[in-house]
Amino acid sequence: MKLNEKRKVLIPGFAILLGVCSVVASSSTMADESEAYSIARGGRLYDKWFKESTTAKTPAVAHPYYPESGKYKGNKATDWRCKECHGWDYRGKEGAYASGKHHTGIKGIAGMAGADPAAVVAVLKNQTHTMSAFGLEEQDYQDLAMFVSKGQVRSEAFIDSGSKKVTGDVNAGKSYFETVCANCHGLDGKEDDQIPPLGKVANDNPWEVLHKIINGQPNEEMPALRAFGVPVAADILAYLQTLPQE
Ligand code: HEC
Ligand code: HEC
Repeated sequence: MKLNEKRKVLIPGFAILLGVCSVVASSSTMADESEAYSIARGGRLYDKWFKESTTAKTPAVAHPYYPESGKYKGNKATDWRCKECHGWDYRGKEGAYASGKHHTGIKGIAGMAGADPAAVVAVLKNQTHTMSAFGLEEQDYQDLAMFVSKGQVRSEAFIDSGSKKVTGDVNAGKSYFETVCANCHGLDGKEDDQIPPLGKVANDNPWEVLHKIINGQPNEEMPALRAFGVPVAADILAYLQTLPQE
């Protein structure tokens, strides 16, 4: 066979092979990407769904299932945030919100980690949650369910519940912070005067900061570091606790 004839035979075979490879490659990467995206976005919806969602309206009425005795009843829709009833540590009345001004006596969501996302969507559409009047899209429910099912991080091993001190590699955390966060938040964590110094938030509520490092800040450009793993987030958090608190 002459070279150019050989090429004619080889090229179609090669083209088919390439085609198969690219179909396989693109479908698998797309599935991974959309799952990672969905879980982190679900985390931001858990934080403040009416800010993260582009269609949802901010509720103007008090949440009917937020306890009358709770401090945030009807307070700027705070009583509609998932975290307000279920906690930044996802453990509700068994976690950091067992007492104090955020106490509601409501259970956490940890029991649904690993659950079928469809079962979580059913809970979100139940009588208690009554969110249907506010214009959430089906994708919002899906993302919330993906977060509840696959996105919850257990922090008991590195956040001490009594002292709130974080165990992590402070030096590694410093490098991460200075290369990933400092452009927006400043080397001292005080650049943005709309929010308290990061050193203060990290000491007051390490669970909240961990949630935001992993999932990002609702409807803001802040990145979600979920893909880098929990130990990286714990190192950053440990370093944040050393930053100035005022
Ligand atoms: C006003 C308080 C309140 C808010 C806000 C709230 N929930 Fe709930 N949630 C409850 C109560 C009470 C229950 C238990 C009774 C029930 O499921 O009807 C519950 C149960 C759950 C459960 C089932 C837990 C289990 O183990 O059975 C999940 C999951 C859940 N909520 C997720 C969410 C998500 C996600 C959000 C935000 C979109 C949210 N909740 C907002 C009060 C709240
Ligand atoms: C692209 C810019 C950007 C980057 C990078 C960024 N953030 Fe943010 N961050 C923001 C914005 C914007 C807000 C919301 C500020 C506001 O509400 O006024 C925010 C909010 C926060 C908050 C919430 C503070 C509060 O009390 O509301 C924390 C904590 C935080 N960032 C930590 C971090 C950490 C840690 C990193 C690095 C892993 C990081 N951010 C990277 C832009 C950024």
